[in-house]
Amino acid sequence: MNSDKNRVTPKVWLITGCSTGFGRALAEAVLKQGDYLLATARKPEQLRALTKHYPETAKAVRLDVTVSQDIQAAVDTAIATFGRIDVLVNNAGYGLIGALEEVNDTDIRRQFETNFFGALRLIRTVLPLMRQQGSGHIVNMSSTAGLVGFGGSSIYCGAKFALEGTSEALAKEVKSFGIKVTLIEPGAFRTDFNGRSLAAAEQSIDAYVPVSGASLQWFKEMDGMSLIQEKLEWVKTDLDAWQQVTVSTDY
Ligand SMILES: NC(=O)c1ccc[n+]([C@@H]2O[C@H](COP(=O)([O-])OP(=O)(O)OC[C@H]3O[C@@H](n4cnc5c(N)ncnc54)[C@H](OP(=O)(O)O)[C@@H]3O)[C@@H](O)[C@H]2O)c1
Repeated sequence: MNSDKNRVTPKVWLITGCSTGFGRALAEAVLKQGDYLLATARKPEQLRALTKHYPETAKAVRLDVTVSQDIQAAVDTAIATFGRIDVLVNNAGYGLIGALEEVNDTDIRRQFETNFFGALRLIRTVLPLMRQQGSGHIVNMSSTAGLVGFGGSSIYCGAKFALEGTSEALAKEVKSFGIKVTLIEPGAFRTDFNGRSLAAAEQSIDAYVPVSGASLQWFKEMDGMSLIQEKLEWVKTDLDAWQQVTVSTDY
């Protein structure tokens, strides 16, 4: 996983959502390469095998990213245990299937609380420390759905788009402090995402069955790179088509 052959000092990582999927795979990779990890999950008992295998370098704590106290406690534990945080990975998240008219206010807020505000809270909690360290790396797990809007999952896309824009701007805000920001935009991966981590709107409106059904299909089969290329070509075509009008508004 690490290509830096001159690297001597182990890094300290804090990863959210280490119970399964990407978070779990990354947690294992980090520990395997000799780094330190504050592994976090809503049910920390799911991390027992990790801490048992790496008792010196792994510590597990409970962290629900929608709970501010959990976030502060996790960051405090990382500092008390390892003295610093070099890499924060905002991985925790779930999908929400449903057209905008089908999802309710609670669905929408829960999705943003987890996939967007949770990540922001963690970032805002570690930034003072990373600034003080003069180094740090924030890794945000976005999605192809953070670059391409898909009908039938408008709120999932909205939360990931928000994460994209904020991360891009944040990278510029913190660059001079020695802090890097990275976005990861996976296509479909066979984690638990397409099963237990895919919530559906309670209300289904017949008129939206084609888009919501297509969205479910897309979550299962999406091909990240070609979809992003299609989006970029579409934006370019649109820009070209509107160029004269856009330029005419210059002052
Ligand atoms: N798999 C894909 O195809 C795909 C594609 C693009 C992007 N992603 C992104 O990848 C990330 C990880 O998903 P995955 O594919 O690895 O699926 P996963 O195996 O279902 O993992 C999701 C993780 O998020 C955690 N989580 C959910 N809500 C949480 C909360 N409120 N607080 C803390 N943890 C919470 C889950 O914890 P619990 O065990 O407690 O539920 C679980 O550890 C997500 O952000 C997802 O949007 C996935």
